[in-house]
Amino acid sequence: MADKVQLLDNRWDDQIAAGLDEPGKLLYRSNLLGADKRITNYGGGNTSAKVSETDPLTGKSVEVLWVKGSGGDVGTIKLDGFATLYMEKLESLKSIYKGIDDEDRMVGFLPHCTFNLNSRAASIDTPLHGFVPFRHVDHMHPDAIIAIAASKNSRELTKEIFGDAIGWLPWRRPGFQLGLDLGAYVAAHPNSKGVVLESHGLFTWADDAKDCYELTLDIINKAIVWFDSKTAGKIAFGGEIARSLDASSRRAIAAKLMPEIRGKIGVSERKLGHFDDQPAVLEFVNSKDLHPLAALGTSCPDHFLRTKIRPLVLDLDPANPDATIETLDAALEAYRADYARYYNDCKHANSPAMRDPNPVIFLIPGVGMLSFAKDKATARIAGEFYVNAINVMRGASSVSEYQGLPEQEAFDIEYWLLEEAKLQRMPKPKSLAGRVAFVTGGAGGIGRATAERLLGQGACVVLADIDTDALKTANADFAQRYSADAVRSVQLNVTDETAVIASFAEASVEFGGIDILVSNAGIASSAPIETTDLAMWNRNMDILATGYFLVSREAFRLFRRQTIGGNVVFVASKNGLAASPNASAYCAAKAAEIHLARCLALEGAEAGIRVNTVNPDAVLRGSKIWNGEWREQRAASSNLQVEELEEHYRKRSLLKLNVLPEDIAEAIYFLASDASAKSTGNIINVDAGNVQSFTR
Ligand SMILES: NC(=O)c1ccc[n+]([C@@H]2O[C@H](COP(=O)([O-])OP(=O)(O)OC[C@H]3O[C@@H](n4cnc5c(N)ncnc54)[C@H](O)[C@@H]3O)[C@@H](O)[C@H]2O)c1
Ligand SMILES: [Zn+2]
Repeated sequence: MADKVQLLDNRWDDQIAAGLDEPGKLLYRSNLLGADKRITNYGGGNTSAKVSETDPLTGKSVEVLWVKGSGGDVGTIKLDGFATLYMEKLESLKSIYKGIDDEDRMVGFLPHCTFNLNSRAASIDTPLHGFVPFRHVDHMHPDAIIAIAASKNSRELTKEIFGDAIGWLPWRRPGFQLGLDLGAYVAAHPNSKGVVLESHGLFTWADDAKDCYELTLDIINKAIVWFDSKTAGKIAFGGEIARSLDASSRRAIAAKLMPEIRGKIGVSERKLGHFDDQPAVLEFVNSKDLHPLAALGTSCPDHFLRTKIRPLVLDLDPANPDATIETLDAALEAYRADYARYYNDCKHANSPAMRDPNPVIFLIPGVGMLSFAKDKATARIAGEFYVNAINVMRGASSVSEYQGLPEQEAFDIEYWLLEEAKLQRMPKPKSLAGRVAFVTGGAGGIGRATAERLLGQGACVVLADIDTDALKTANADFAQRYSADAVRSVQLNVTDETAVIASFAEASVEFGGIDILVSNAGIASSAPIETTDLAMWNRNMDILATGYFLVSREAFRLFRRQTIGGNVVFVASKNGLAASPNASAYCAAKAAEIHLARCLALEGAEAGIRVNTVNPDAVLRGSKIWNGEWREQRAASSNLQVEELEEHYRKRSLLKLNVLPEDIAEAIYFLASDASAKSTGNIINVDAGNVQSFTR
């Protein structure tokens, strides 16, 4: 059996480690451990080493605890992510500790123990490492161990699997007391190598960095092998009672549901969505035990802090998804009422006010899992954490009875004053945080500058463009410079009705919905009217007038389902207001865009949908339009050389300035943001001043 199991690989390389000092080895070990999500979840767990250092004050050798600081992730941590504390001072805190009610006060003393002016804040897990009398300590959240820790008889299971090597401690919230408990455990069991913490995770220790790493892997591997021997051939979660829809139907239903949910849970603070239908999720949502297990809630504190204590299950009739939408309000209402009950039952006199009572995780039989949070990465990570919770429930319920964390314990962590203080310290969100922008022509000059401006203000962006290569480049660039979570791209011809509809559905699945449409995809053409053939006329009308119609119609449909307003910005042209020689097809199509925007502003106002227009002129730099024959034709039309054109336009402008893609992006950002909340049906010319395009 065991040879089929996927065991954790020992990735320690003696050659690499030989060149490292003790903090370096701690970092190396931490990154190795955090690289495999079966060892610990994102941001979960911590590692430490007790290192002899030279005291900058006395020049003498002192013992210093290096331990992962507050808020880091062991997989990606760097040396500056560790807090450093004088061991002697940390030990001395024991003499002023007055017992469990005094725990939170002790956190305030940790900064007093700081070694070498290190500004990284020590986490509440610091005593858990400091009071274990071994030089190296790993604290991990492996699914296989949490499955044991979340089993009803976890103490017996721990003994059965690990014998006397690994001990067991009952659930206790991490803090000073748990540190003392661990220290006392080691004192009573000097030969033990670690402990399983009930409903939480694993602690392991050793006096050498490599030994500690290998021990951690060995213990987790033992658990993996044991589970495999117990569960092979067994049906998980009581078996399947719902069938998965095919992949495209699952996505189609997610696309339909997500904007509806987003609108209903994102009124006070916009949320972003994430869809996951991996096999582990489908196995759980289709199972007989879905309802009872989901109701028990998640166990590991890390899991539920991300996912809320329990998910919302939405039962779906695949033949009639609209029926599920009709029941959404009632389902959400019931969830919020239960959350308020949980808050009121568990709150203390000094608890922070109730936070957002909406669910984070939505489970839909046949379809998969949706997760929503204030930004895309947080939504994705919440989903990943729920997959961890599913793995834990699968393990625990197959060998024992799964138990969630008691509500009061969960509450005491969720509303811990220290957690609240952390939330209060978070930087103010950016102006477009939680917003999704769909930018057509997003791989072109103005589109790319716009995407960049919006990303910089915290928006997520969908780049939609017909040019596949340019899309790929733009997407990779933004993913690298901003975040892979915040950017998606979709190949789209804006004249293709079906493709437009599909691209909005795609955006809805990727982010949960859309808040801002920047309709910008375009071309230009030049010819006197006599030689303007029908193909040229139609091409301008198709891409500019019809393309803008198709994408804004789809945006309106989505905004109306989402019910939290919406924002449309058209990138038209000075030439839509001012007649220009030898470009009648282009000018007429641009005029159509401008008037379409006004009509839509009128229609959308009552639903909080704003529609405004930006008119660029002569943006040569970065524009693909100006790389083509348009440039030659425009030069010819003014009797100029191609290279004289930019200077010609600058001189022609009232302000004598060149207009750049960033200038257009700035106006689009203004109209797309709440800074212009009271403007609709407006036009902003960004043309360095041009009397013909003055509006009146
Ligand atoms: N650059 C200027 O001087 C200027 C002046 C006035 C108006 N505009 C308008 O600004 C917008 C952006 O122009 P730009 O200067 O960034 O040009 P650009 O060519 O750099 O960008 C336009 C983008 O639209 C894409 N596109 C073209 N046809 C498409 C289609 N059918 N479906 C989807 N995508 C398509 C192109 O691939 C390109 O990436 C256009 O609407 C243009 O008319 C530009
Ligand atoms: Zn932990």
